[in-house]
Amino acid sequence: MGVLLVTGFLSMMMYGQWNIYFFQVYFNFPNLRMKQYSCSAFYIGADNEHQQVTIISNNGALLIKTVLNDQQMVYLPAGSMDTILYFGREVSEDQEMYTLDLENPETQIKVSFLVSQKDSEELQNQLRGKQVFFRFKNPRILSQLAPGIQLIQTQNNVMVEKMAVFPKNMIDQASISRLCQLKQEADILSLLKEQEHQNIIKLEEIVTDGESVSIILENCQGGDLLKLLNKKTIKMDVPLVMINLLTGLKHLHEQNIVHRDIKLQNILFLDAQNANTLKIADFGLSCFKQQIPYYNPRCGTPGYTAPEVYSQQCIYDEKVDIYSAGIILYNMLTLKNPFGNSKNIQDIIKRNISGQYDETHLVNVKINNPLGYDLLLKMLQKDARNRPSAKECLLHPFFDQEIYEIQEDQNSIKHETQKRIQTTKRVKI
Ligand SMILES: Nc1ncnc2c1ncn2[C@@H]1O[C@H](COP(=O)(O)OP(=O)(O)O)[C@@H](O)[C@H]1O
Ligand SMILES: [Mg+2]
Repeated sequence: MGVLLVTGFLSMMMYGQWNIYFFQVYFNFPNLRMKQYSCSAFYIGADNEHQQVTIISNNGALLIKTVLNDQQMVYLPAGSMDTILYFGREVSEDQEMYTLDLENPETQIKVSFLVSQKDSEELQNQLRGKQVFFRFKNPRILSQLAPGIQLIQTQNNVMVEKMAVFPKNMIDQASISRLCQLKQEADILSLLKEQEHQNIIKLEEIVTDGESVSIILENCQGGDLLKLLNKKTIKMDVPLVMINLLTGLKHLHEQNIVHRDIKLQNILFLDAQNANTLKIADFGLSCFKQQIPYYNPRCGTPGYTAPEVYSQQCIYDEKVDIYSAGIILYNMLTLKNPFGNSKNIQDIIKRNISGQYDETHLVNVKINNPLGYDLLLKMLQKDARNRPSAKECLLHPFFDQEIYEIQEDQNSIKHETQKRIQTTKRVKI
């Protein structure tokens, strides 16, 4: 599939100021749906003067140009949530004019445009799912899953809401950082929505109430991999979990996305009993490969991070995710952490930097599960160049491809039984 990278500058004029943002847009030719809509509107200036503009919505992107000198006022790439959209604030009933408001959550600068009712409706349809709309009306909060993350009941669905409040001021670093991460997560998940994959968490919507912004995600009621590993009652099908994890990573890496925070807590399941429902989640630290040096290059979770991330040059690529997935494989095969459980995080970081994982826990694995042991050693290679790609990992004999492919065709009950028997035979923990 042909992937074209367009790099440029996002320029946005707000109250006479030009803010320049770096942006990257990916187009995938076979899936490009060219939907275009354009209409005329009025920019409402700070002094309430009206200036005629043309609004063009193109396949989820939004471009606003002045009519007078054809200057670009606003450009929002598809999937971006740099600026929040509010639609439908009715201005005058007799003329049936509505506003389209854009607000930058970081600067809290707002610009407004006057649009006719007909155009407002069409623009909303064009941008739906890619931009921010109205907050759900009174969702019922069912439970709190983690700080800022809750299970909600909307009209006909139970979903998960991950929220960030708009910072009250520019020194509120904690809120700014959470908002930036949520923004990045929303941008990446919006793009991944176009390239849906069974092992990537699905973004349902992005919503705001003007004080906070939330991403709405499918509910993975099976819980996360950490919880599952700690439950003695659930027997883990290690190869099947790894096949699903590596298949998801392969898809991400094919889209040039690096996750950068693969760990047990970020691997979720729709159904705890079915490893094929695995979803990679938490894209707050993810970025495009080309963004690595510019977007939080030193990030990850101690104990899961590839050693090259800690190096002085901090030059790395998508192979960091393979290292972290290797740690997950270690966790599953040994039920231990490779760099120990020290309360002192510096101890863990020191061992993580050296790449010296605890080999004593692997003695039994080496004897009982030589293929799993071999794959583990390859994934945890300190030199990233020697580490296999996700695609290469999937070709490892640890995964008996044929057996799993045959199973795919069988009904789920039979599938589950067979899979367990075969796994017990092949993977002795
Ligand atoms: N869509 C979801 N379905 C079910 N549980 C979720 C979902 N999203 C998050 N969680 C739970 O909340 C925890 C934190 O979510 P995560 O997206 O990793 O946020 P954070 O950035 O706070 O780490 C996860 O480990 C998981 O237990
Ligand atoms: Mg997380």
